[in-house]
Formats: sequence, structure tokens, C-alpha cells
Amino acid sequence: MLSVAEKPMGGGKIMTAEEFVDQLQQDCLDHPALNHSYLKKFEAGKVDKKAIRIFGENYYCFSRYFSRYLAALVAITPFEASRAPLIKNLHEEYGGRQEENRDMDPELTHPAIFRRFLRSVGVDTSQETLDAIKPIPETKLFVDKYLNIRFLDYITAFGALGPGTEYIVPKMYTYIREGCKKAGLSDDEVLFFTAHIELDVEHAEGLKEGLIPFAQTEENQEKLRFGAMDFLDARTVLWDGLERASGL
Ligand SMILES: [Fe+2]
Repeated sequence: MLSVAEKPMGGGKIMTAEEFVDQLQQDCLDHPALNHSYLKKFEAGKVDKKAIRIFGENYYCFSRYFSRYLAALVAITPFEASRAPLIKNLHEEYGGRQEENRDMDPELTHPAIFRRFLRSVGVDTSQETLDAIKPIPETKLFVDKYLNIRFLDYITAFGALGPGTEYIVPKMYTYIREGCKKAGLSDDEVLFFTAHIELDVEHAEGLKEGLIPFAQTEENQEKLRFGAMDFLDARTVLWDGLERASGL
């Protein structure tokens, strides 16, 4: 098989690993999951606190396990250097921040910050109540898809968690945060989204650096693209379900 460097792309252009990832990232931003009517309703201020609560309860079921998805990718990635940004990301999921000389902190784990958001829309965040949340079917399938990262090949999984997840967060959470603020939530109550809008630029950059070494062949590029698009398709289904469940 020809390596990408040897193979001319459309218009005679040769796509390097960097060019491929840049193109893939742009295609992720253009995916229907990032341009969904559910997100646009957040942006337009059409999502009230009751609908935000449905979003919050369901999205917590996904978000609370984010470190498990990262750990799954760590477990299947054979390259030491590619695992490094994932491990730094894990430390930050637990409230650590090397740049600010801050160690892990149980009050500042990302699930803990998410619970602050949940309380602002009237959710009791005792362990018992949280464990009793009944997610909609689309949420259950979405969470299972991410937990099943451990059964994927690492290249597909990098596409899923890098361009297909971390990279899209700033755009996606901006819609959600603005909708929450229009519904009356304070800056402190939407901190989960603000923190990720900033942090995930860095996380996406780390994952990009991690996957560049194996984004050199056409075969691997196809796997990376498949992983990203497949997980974004699942996200479209999640938004479809939440839009329906919220009566929007
Ligand atoms: Fe996070």
C-alpha cells in the first residue's frame, strides 16, 4: 500500500498527517451533531430550567465516567508518548492542574463540578439520588459506546476521543453554556462548561500530537476518520433523544 506521502490527493495535493488531522477536525465541526437543532435551541434561549434538568441528569450519566473512557484509551495505546497527554488529561479530570501547581482535589473533580451545575437546576446530588437517575435509551447507548472504547483498536479510538470528542467541546459547550445562562444560571453554576471550553482546546491539541505518529498511512487515516464520525453519529442520536424527551 502507498503511504499517504506518496499518494496524491484530490487536485494532485499530497495530504500529510497534519493536513489530514486539520481537515478531519474541520469535518467534525461540520458534522450534524455540532449543528443540531437541540444545540441551536440552547443558543436561542429556548431551553428552560426543566429541559436543562433533563439534559443535566442524562449528560451526567455520560460525563461522570469520562475518566473511564480516557483510561480505556490509555489501556489500549501501545506508544508511551501517545499515552502521555491522556494521563495528564486524567489528572485534570480529578481536579489537578500542573500549570497552576495544583494537585488532585475531590472538590474539583469534573464530576464534582458537574454536580454543582446539577444542583443549580434542582437536582439532589446525594449518591443515592444520582445512582437512581433513569437515563433515556439514547443516553444508555451513548454511555455504552464510550465504555466499549476498550474493545476498539487504538487508532479508531483515538479518532473517537480526539477529533470526535475533545476537539468539538469548545463549540458544543458554548451553545449549552449560553443557553443555561439565558435560563438564569450564574457563571459559577455553568463552570463545568466554561472550564471545558478552555481546557479541551489543550486536550484536543494533546490528542492530536498523540495520534500524529500513526496518522501517516491512508489505512490509519481511514480508521481515525471512522472513529470520529461514528462517535459523532452516536452524539446526533443522543441529541435527537434529548430533544424528544424534553418536548422541545
Ligand atoms: Fe472533563
